[in-house]
Amino acid sequence: MYPACFAIRMFSLCLRCPGSHCLRYKTSKLRAPAPLSLTLTRTTASPHRPVSSQTNCCGCQKNSKKMSIQAKIGPSILNADLANLAAESQKLLDNGADYLHLDVMDGNFVPNLTFGHPMVKCLRNKIKDAFFETHMMVDNPEQWIAPMADAGVNLYTFHIEPVEDVAKVSRKIQEAGMKVGLALKPGTKVEEVQKYIDIADLVLIMTVEPGFGGQSFMADMMPKVEWLRKNYPNLDIEVDGGVGPKTIDCCAKSGANWIVSGTAVVGASDQRKVISDMRGVVQSYIK
Ligand code: DX5
Ligand code: ZN
Repeated sequence: MYPACFAIRMFSLCLRCPGSHCLRYKTSKLRAPAPLSLTLTRTTASPHRPVSSQTNCCGCQKNSKKMSIQAKIGPSILNADLANLAAESQKLLDNGADYLHLDVMDGNFVPNLTFGHPMVKCLRNKIKDAFFETHMMVDNPEQWIAPMADAGVNLYTFHIEPVEDVAKVSRKIQEAGMKVGLALKPGTKVEEVQKYIDIADLVLIMTVEPGFGGQSFMADMMPKVEWLRKNYPNLDIEVDGGVGPKTIDCCAKSGANWIVSGTAVVGASDQRKVISDMRGVVQSYIK
């Protein structure tokens, strides 16, 4: 768009500003429609700016301190019976899972190999209306954007560590119609993600070294979550690794609201109760 047209467009938007137009405009012009319409809380309605520096023409600043995030529980199916993936996934959803966290590993970025877009597509054919997040533990996340979008992925979460141009990859994900998640390994400083938060729908703080399910929760990652929550009250913050009934309080108290839980949920005798209890703990810190 030419600068003059852009200025006129922005001016007219400001005149009829409802308080959330900015990203709606950005979304409608720059993003293809998301494949599914599951509500993703406030992250689809305004950009993430630090509380101290958000200066939006529409007055979004007034809302920035209000917690409008929601508690979401997303089981990781990594340690499920992959030969019965559709049935295992459906069971988790029937037991109250808010979304499915699908761990994609390439054997290079992490020392393990799982599955790729063909399997995600088969799963989507069986499960039409659930929200799918792919956690891309791969060296070249850009390579898999189009096939994962085609497979019906809603949220494409990739690690920033091996990526040279995070903004470019994020834009391509949006253009492919998916939401953007930015993931950090335990050794990566949280400040590394700060400059990209405005383009992200979610930030994932790993609470184990990525690669395997069933590892011990790293409580020393919580300062990262606390820092993000303090500076970005409305950001969706996800934790992943060793999270279950014993560690959920720590995560929720620190400010995480998207909770990945693998073995603790998949192996539970009462999945519904574990999911519901964890969601309750997270919700109690949001209210
Ligand atoms: C680890 C994966 C996690 C993991 C979670 O690399 O990203 O999603 O499978 O499983 P638990 O909850 O068992 O640590
Ligand atoms: Zn994961």
